[in-house]
Amino acid sequence: MVEQTQKSHISLDHEKMHAPPEGFFERSTSKPNLADFATYQKMYDQSIQDPATFFGEQAKQTLDWIRPFDQPRFPADKKDDFKNGDLPAWFVGGQINAAYNCVDRWAAKDPNKVAIIYEGDEPDSGRKITYGELLKDVCKLAQALTKLGVKKGDSVAVYLPMIPEAVVTLLAIVRIGAMHSVVFAGFSSTSLKDRILDADSRIVITADESKRGGKTIETKKIVDDALKDCPDVRNVIVFKRTGNSHVPFSPGRDLWWHDELAKYGNYFPPTPVDSEDPMFLLYTSGSTGKPKGVQHNTAGYLLGALLTTKYTFDVHEDDVLFTAGDIGWITGHTYCVYGPLLNGATSVVFEGTPAYPNFSRYWEIVDKYKVNQFYVAPTALRLLKRAGHKYVEPYDLSSLRVLGSVGEPIAAEVWHWYSENVGRNKAHVVDTYWQTESGSHLLCPLAGVTPTKPGSASLPFFGIEPKILDPTTGEELKGNDVEGVLAIKSAWPSITRGIFGDYNRYIDTYLRPYADHYFSGDGAARDLDGFYWILGRVDDVVNVSGHRLSTAEVEAALIEHDLVGESAVVGYADDLTGQAIAAYVSLKKHKLPADADLEAIKKELILTVRKEIGPFAAPKTVLFVDDLPKTRSGKIMRRILRKVLAGEEDSLGDISTLSNPQAVSQIIDVVKTSR
Ligand code: WT7
Repeated sequence: MVEQTQKSHISLDHEKMHAPPEGFFERSTSKPNLADFATYQKMYDQSIQDPATFFGEQAKQTLDWIRPFDQPRFPADKKDDFKNGDLPAWFVGGQINAAYNCVDRWAAKDPNKVAIIYEGDEPDSGRKITYGELLKDVCKLAQALTKLGVKKGDSVAVYLPMIPEAVVTLLAIVRIGAMHSVVFAGFSSTSLKDRILDADSRIVITADESKRGGKTIETKKIVDDALKDCPDVRNVIVFKRTGNSHVPFSPGRDLWWHDELAKYGNYFPPTPVDSEDPMFLLYTSGSTGKPKGVQHNTAGYLLGALLTTKYTFDVHEDDVLFTAGDIGWITGHTYCVYGPLLNGATSVVFEGTPAYPNFSRYWEIVDKYKVNQFYVAPTALRLLKRAGHKYVEPYDLSSLRVLGSVGEPIAAEVWHWYSENVGRNKAHVVDTYWQTESGSHLLCPLAGVTPTKPGSASLPFFGIEPKILDPTTGEELKGNDVEGVLAIKSAWPSITRGIFGDYNRYIDTYLRPYADHYFSGDGAARDLDGFYWILGRVDDVVNVSGHRLSTAEVEAALIEHDLVGESAVVGYADDLTGQAIAAYVSLKKHKLPADADLEAIKKELILTVRKEIGPFAAPKTVLFVDDLPKTRSGKIMRRILRKVLAGEEDSLGDISTLSNPQAVSQIIDVVKTSR
């Protein structure tokens, strides 16, 4: 059972419910995907009572099958879901191809329809890629990969910036039935190496260099560093993003993207895969130091991505969707690549940052391409809100119908700022709660239909059966106005099928903590109206700018430094990044020179974390202490460390049972002087 760790800063005020913006559907040229709230309720009830029929019909109508499935769900009855670690299988007997559904069927309909709008890091650098062009590139790369020996079920590592070639890469890999394993390009060479080894990837696809916020990143060099310890990697395909001639290149192993693609013709047939064949791995942080390779299987994932994009965002074929999240995270996978393309829409792929060359960048893109759905993490909105209204005001944002929020709680004042200044009170703000493991939205308003309350992710998507459980007893807290941990009672099509190579860890993490439920790792409340409020992680996971990090992972990085004896990492509230990382460190006294420069050591420690994990994981605060508070069995009491940082040293509870209660007073002093 988990320790209930932090209460959120969101107040559970029963703020008034906002109806969807008036005239929402009239502002679209297409007919609504969902007529009204009553239709949602009716469909939701059916999806829970009879998920086999509900999702079976949806899968038949919305996806193209190479071989139709025999059974939508096995077992059809959900009563045994999650018992003894069991998951149902979806769309049994069916054969399908992900790339075909994303590209071929739309290219056949209209090859000149724009699939991707690429907006480069520098304003006005970029281009449009049609479905017809996308199909050609995907087919060419699929042939190159086949020629290099990639087969169905193999994993291919992807370490690319936000460029259209990243989309081409993902689709080429799934076209031949292989799995992609995308590693966020902000990760260090060490993290990349760990993921390549864990997924046993033999091919890596990357770029010579990357551009972000006006800076150049030596992408290929990072890959080369990682590959020093990956003897099984046969080839690296390198896309020329900058064309810098100094980029390291090992002939034989390394191949230029343009040379490879030039060898092949325009068409290559998609490989049929079984519904439950794996489609991709995506590593995420859990409560231990070792990242988990979250595995998603083909048909269920595709259906989840397709339906949530269609209903949460009310996306139609004519729409332009701009998901400002990186392809290195699940948001990019589901809502920048698969969701929009599965719906035949146009997806904006943006390489840059919201602040370069100035804080208007997003709005300029929305205006220029007449974006209909915009999707971003609150951390960016906090930054832009702080920058000021003058950066938003000059732009014509009237094309926006839906404004999505993802990755962390959105505070009410940020929600209102988003709705008023960006949406100009005409767009529907949808706060979407989900996870890498869920594949697609779990709790979310449906655009144009679900009333919203700022700060609440509102109500469950089709097929999602949320429960609030007592954290200690695991008992279900029925009715409204309850608070506990969030669990899900039965399986949905896009739920992860496991942690790659470690099914037991999957069971232990998600299915064992609360019998017969999937455990989300989050605390949550259901208010008087039955709306859900996410209260933050209850495990040792920290959310920095919407990036998920395990405290154990940062601790494991710190210990790599020679002088570190022991460390404990905790999250604390930060105005801009949501949470920031604080590292309490005790140094090895015997190794420390008498005239040691502690400020310099702090910098070295931060550098160590940047090098071991990546810049985004760097602690904001490093606190040197003699000793960390521990229980008699030696467990570090992170709760105490968190409370001291939050200035709640008056409510530490009984510390007399610690093995070293005297450690606490020094910690309080150190934190006070650091302020
Ligand atoms: C964790 C999942 C979901 C894609 C991006 C992050 C937190 C996610 C919300 C939200 C409050 C949220 C949860 C969740 N989270 N969305 N709308 N409101 N919290 O995916 O890296 O797998 O992280 O992000 O704590 O468990 P992820």
